[in-house]
Amino acid sequence: MDQRLLEKIEKLRKQRNAVILAHNYQPGEIQDLADFCGDSLGLSVKAANTDANVIVFCGVKFMAETAAILSPQKTVLLPDKHAGCPMADMITAEQLRQLKHQHPNALVVCYVNSTAEVKAESDYCCTSANAVEVVESLPPQAEIIFVPDCHLGRHVADKTSRNLIFWPGYCTSHILITEENLKLAKKEHPEAIVLAHPECNEPVKELADELLSTSQMLKFAAGSAERKFIIATEIGIIHTLKKQNPGKEFIPASERAICPNMKKITLDKIVASLEDMQYQITVPDDIRVRAKKSLDRMIEVLPA
Ligand code: 13P
Ligand code: SF4
Repeated sequence: MDQRLLEKIEKLRKQRNAVILAHNYQPGEIQDLADFCGDSLGLSVKAANTDANVIVFCGVKFMAETAAILSPQKTVLLPDKHAGCPMADMITAEQLRQLKHQHPNALVVCYVNSTAEVKAESDYCCTSANAVEVVESLPPQAEIIFVPDCHLGRHVADKTSRNLIFWPGYCTSHILITEENLKLAKKEHPEAIVLAHPECNEPVKELADELLSTSQMLKFAAGSAERKFIIATEIGIIHTLKKQNPGKEFIPASERAICPNMKKITLDKIVASLEDMQYQITVPDDIRVRAKKSLDRMIEVLPA
């Protein structure tokens, strides 16, 4: 069954001159078939630079929107139109405008996990891979609004000693990883190195050895001489961690850390997407042009 679907995808991918991009949280078989698999920063760079006519985005809506903003001349497809990100929907453009009104001199940095409208209201975008560097690139005295993820925001404030104004947004999957989960995992595997995503809550992050974006986790695990790792992020990444590091062991901090939206993409939906050119993600020009400015700045700032 899967083989038949994979063959269909292969054929359609060529016919349409399509590139398949997948996030590191996608189901294993989708990460395996993708032309490129990565974190939000890596995927944005790929989307901006591809020569394919069609981008099939195996991820969630804000990622496909980002691709449509960066590559407006391409057709961007999201195989499931309901694959959204609850965190991105935790702040609206109107709420951000009100916050800006309260802090008229502040610069706005928004996490890429946000809607195109919110990006259009922001000065800079960032991902978990370069949030610290983006904030550090701003003038030292600047007042900075950071939306929507308060957990990533606190991590950035910690690393930069900047005084940030937060918004109470969060990832509904990462907060399922609790301090107790991690304490238990560490007790069972005392020699393991803990890699956590900055979207985790603060007590979890305090117990971690490294705070990394998903692609940074893959790079760290591959380059490390250690053999055992506890992974505090969405469990989809464990598929590729294991595949790339056959001799190493990866233990999820919590089996509950699953993003249901990331798992909405399936092989049949990719086939339907390429057959029927659905679901096309577009961003109206007035929003796109303003949002692109903050995304261009995001892409310019490289992680340390
Ligand atoms: P990164 O892969 O950029 O670390 O992002 C994590 C995430 O939650 C994406 O939705
Ligand atoms: Fe959104 Fe969290 Fe899912 Fe990422 S893992 S798409 S931040 S809900």
